[in-house]
Amino acid sequence: MAEAAPRSVTIVTGSSRGIGRAIAHALAAAGHRLVLTARDGAALLDVAGELEARGAEVATAPVDLRLPGAVEHVLATAEQHFGSPDVIVSNAGTAPADKIENTTPETLRETFDLHVGVPFAFARAAAPQMKKRARGCLVHLASTAGLRGYPFTSAYTAAKHGMVGLARALHAELAPKNVQVYAVCPGFVDTAITRRAAEAVAAMGRSTAEEAFQRMAAQNRIGRMHDPHEVAAAVATLLRDRPSGCVYDLDRDPPAFVD
Ligand SMILES: NC(=O)c1ccc[n+]([C@@H]2O[C@H](COP(=O)([O-])OP(=O)(O)OC[C@H]3O[C@@H](n4cnc5c(N)ncnc54)[C@H](OP(=O)(O)O)[C@@H]3O)[C@@H](O)[C@H]2O)c1
Repeated sequence: MAEAAPRSVTIVTGSSRGIGRAIAHALAAAGHRLVLTARDGAALLDVAGELEARGAEVATAPVDLRLPGAVEHVLATAEQHFGSPDVIVSNAGTAPADKIENTTPETLRETFDLHVGVPFAFARAAAPQMKKRARGCLVHLASTAGLRGYPFTSAYTAAKHGMVGLARALHAELAPKNVQVYAVCPGFVDTAITRRAAEAVAAMGRSTAEEAFQRMAAQNRIGRMHDPHEVAAAVATLLRDRPSGCVYDLDRDPPAFVD
């Protein structure tokens, strides 16, 4: 009888809520062994409890990913519980929204640290092992803000372009070694980050937060907000099928790889 394939060891960053939590649920249902990470340890334990109740194997690593040593700590947690990661989903993010004159260099740096520096550090640490095993996958939860520009999001849009660019470079370097790299690009998704961005736009005095939220939904080419679970389902499908593209635009009907 053929041996069952080993179950993927998968790190999902920013899995305490929103899209990351939905991804954790979708991947647990697909049999992944999960390492969940975010700053809010209590929220992570809640998500871990939900998944364990459905029979999943889960470890948590509460940490601020921008701090020195944080990425190594998450990788060590994976090693300790399950072994080297097969998949790393870099999803943790913040989305500062303000006029360019109010966006500080610190905000730009912090946003780059989280959206580019953290996936870079994970790739740098994990790539040698993934190449050696000729198996692995890096997923960047990017955005259509990594493909085009939106007003009042200079730091975020610049960082998401960086995240997509990093994925393209890693794909070119690692896909020949059978390590797939994807940048998944939804438009606006109905989560806390979007609600906060709508409040920030409202605070500029242009409209109510609800009007700003509806304007964001209308900016999506699909004409509505994405649901976190449809983003999660797309990630789970990429990880199951491992198609050969890199930048996957979800704000199309149907979603498609783009150059
Ligand atoms: N919502 C959208 O419209 C949209 C669209 C396209 C792409 N995205 C991307 O999707 C990803 C998830 O966004 P979301 O909408 O699910 O946002 P969310 O609900 O605010 O969740 C963000 C997650 O990132 C974690 N996080 C933030 N800063 C962190 C840090 N310094 N260290 C560790 N974890 C950190 C948060 O947990 P803690 O606060 O507990 O640390 C949380 O789990 C982001 O990369 C975002 O840019 C979102």
